[in-house]
Amino acid sequence: MKAFVIERYSKQEPLRLVDVPEPTLGEQDVLVQIHAASINPLDLKIRSGALKRILPLRLPLVLGNDFAGVVTRVGAKVQRFKPGDEVYARTDTRRIGTFAEFIAVAESNLALKPVSLSMEEAASIPLVGLTAWQALLETGQLRKGQKVFIHAGSGGVGTLAIQLAKHLGAYVATTTSSTNVALVKSLGADLVIDYKKDDFSKTLRDYDLVLHSLGDEELAQSVSVLRPGGQLITLSGPPDPEFARNAGMPKLLQLIVGLLSRKIRKRAAQRQVSYAFLFMRGSGEQLATLTELIDSGVIRPVIDKIFSFEATDEALAYVDSGRAKGKVVVRVL
Ligand SMILES: NC(=O)c1ccc[n+]([C@@H]2O[C@H](COP(=O)([O-])OP(=O)(O)OC[C@H]3O[C@@H](n4cnc5c(N)ncnc54)[C@H](OP(=O)(O)O)[C@@H]3O)[C@@H](O)[C@H]2O)c1
Repeated sequence: MKAFVIERYSKQEPLRLVDVPEPTLGEQDVLVQIHAASINPLDLKIRSGALKRILPLRLPLVLGNDFAGVVTRVGAKVQRFKPGDEVYARTDTRRIGTFAEFIAVAESNLALKPVSLSMEEAASIPLVGLTAWQALLETGQLRKGQKVFIHAGSGGVGTLAIQLAKHLGAYVATTTSSTNVALVKSLGADLVIDYKKDDFSKTLRDYDLVLHSLGDEELAQSVSVLRPGGQLITLSGPPDPEFARNAGMPKLLQLIVGLLSRKIRKRAAQRQVSYAFLFMRGSGEQLATLTELIDSGVIRPVIDKIFSFEATDEALAYVDSGRAKGKVVVRVL
């Protein structure tokens, strides 16, 4: 089958389109013919080697973390899926490879695709949808009436997180640039701050939760937005010791990881704010709940551009520009 691979870590080097063997199927795996895959900044971080310590992967490697497609074969112990089913998933973190014609994915990561979405729309959901779910519901335990500040509301994560937070009954503030104000309002944002004109840390106070997905400066400023007892959840800041422990890192690495986040944890503690780094994971169960929310019209995908499979490198470069409005998808079939 055709697949886009990286042979060594590099920030710039194009992916190579090569022929690789079709994936082998474990007893609890499902073989899926991929129709569409989405691009995530995670692909860029994996390609550059930025994550090689916390997420060691063997090279050469087929890149790509989520997809939508059709089941072609199932392993002997698979119970919930059969050939012909239209499905979507975020793969297991250590078994990625969705910029390809086929993938073998654990049944536990898979869910039926929303019937109301095209393959391209469905492929845009899993990684960012599950990230929003795990940040707001699992880690954040966001409740009705609470105030949440979602950084970068027009991004892949932001567009899904705004809609989910509104569904949970929260008051939502977000940042974006002026061209995307109408978009984030249409998703339900109550308060929109144009980050090019205004400083969010001067406007927002007493928030229950901040979902951070930008740089160190925005991370440090986020602390002052929260009430004592509030939560700062980061997707792109330094990992915390609990994450390192749960990830089973060796003791020395746990120590190093702890040092990386020492400054922000200290700053958060001074304001009695909790700090957590989230590294999302695949979950077919949570994705099935998102399928219901999508098919009932509560959540909709936001797609900026769809590229052909051959143009996967251009799609990556577009996401790398940092200007995507919602998601960027590659049509594989
Ligand atoms: N830890 C995890 O499990 C996890 C999961 C998902 C994502 N992430 C990370 O979270 C980050 C965001 O991911 P994503 O998929 O949402 O990225 P993305 O879609 O590429 O984000 C692009 C958006 O960010 C906005 N933006 C850029 N700078 C901004 C700023 N200073 N203030 C407000 N908005 C700004 C842009 O809006 P304008 O064009 O208007 O500037 C654009 O719409 C990435 O670092 C990603 O790796 C981590």
